[in-house]
Amino acid sequence: MLKVPATGQDLPTTLLKALGDPIRLRILRLLDREELSVGELSRALALSQSRVSNHLRVLREHALLAERQAGTSTFLRLGIADADGLAARLWAALSADLTDDPGDTERLRQVIAERREVSPEFFDRVAGRWDTIGVEFASGQARQRAVASLVSAGAIWGDLGCGTGYVARAMLGLCERVVCVDSSAGMLEQARVRLAEHPGGTEVDLRLGELDALPIGDGELDGAVAAMVLHHLPSPDGCLAEVFRVLRPGATAVVVDLVPHGEGWLSTELGDRHLGLDARQVGAAFAAAGFVDVRMEALDDRYRPQPPAGLPPLPGGGLPLYTVRGRKPRA
Ligand SMILES: C[S@@+](CC[C@H](N)C(=O)[O-])C[C@H]1O[C@@H](n2cnc3c(N)ncnc32)[C@H](O)[C@@H]1O
Repeated sequence: MLKVPATGQDLPTTLLKALGDPIRLRILRLLDREELSVGELSRALALSQSRVSNHLRVLREHALLAERQAGTSTFLRLGIADADGLAARLWAALSADLTDDPGDTERLRQVIAERREVSPEFFDRVAGRWDTIGVEFASGQARQRAVASLVSAGAIWGDLGCGTGYVARAMLGLCERVVCVDSSAGMLEQARVRLAEHPGGTEVDLRLGELDALPIGDGELDGAVAAMVLHHLPSPDGCLAEVFRVLRPGATAVVVDLVPHGEGWLSTELGDRHLGLDARQVGAAFAAAGFVDVRMEALDDRYRPQPPAGLPPLPGGGLPLYTVRGRKPRA
């Protein structure tokens, strides 16, 4: 039974108004089902962002939302601050009687499906839990092997598609400066925290940008690694052309990636656009970009992300990895 004052200024009319609006009820219903960015929520409702933002302001005033900031994106969920309060009890009573708007349900399905499209927002969303999803890979040797191909003292190296900074971490103490590029501000923030722990005398230079339009000058780098990122791109060609441009003549580029596999959940969970890449295709893209001495090597290491609950463990204990490397010809 609701214990609310029947008269006087304590009457919870603003809360009742907040919950009494059909659009706000649709918003709460959607956010009860799924954490959404403001953009995703607007698409699921088929309403403009400014209109949705006005409704969100009312819901915030009544502490009905839980919000999480990652990079440049804000993610929202239904989150009633006082779990035993009047708002929580009213919502429980209301939601038991509400049915979902079929249009919202269909658009929400589309919004979730579109997340498979790789976007900075996708990576902002998962940045904070990335290292727990791929925890075994994080401790593996693949990145160190890739970095070992670059060794030459006093150099400027690139970690391209740096994510949370595992490759750059393997570079600390080995080069003068590491330029870390990623299109997700949330990932760069995770990398900043990780790389500040033990910089080892290496300057860390974080840059927001796209791999097919690198925010790096011509010939600026003395070596570069792009680990576990080419399978996120439509094709390796644009990225490798850019890597070629930003390397000085004689410098080496290394790619770490996965052999083709059938783990479809990696596209929804980790944003993989391709389920692995054929090393020969990557080697051909190196050659097409102008690299010479192109070599492919299978790695004695496996990628072991944790499958979601209900799916079987990865075959063979993990997915096989390889490196492809190539050298930019001396001028
Ligand atoms: C699988 S993580 C790999 C991170 C890191 N290289 C490692 O080995 O742990 C892929 C990263 O590539 C970034 N990424 C995906 N597409 C990108 C693009 N087009 N330009 C720049 N970064 C991109 C994502 O934001 C994500 O941080």
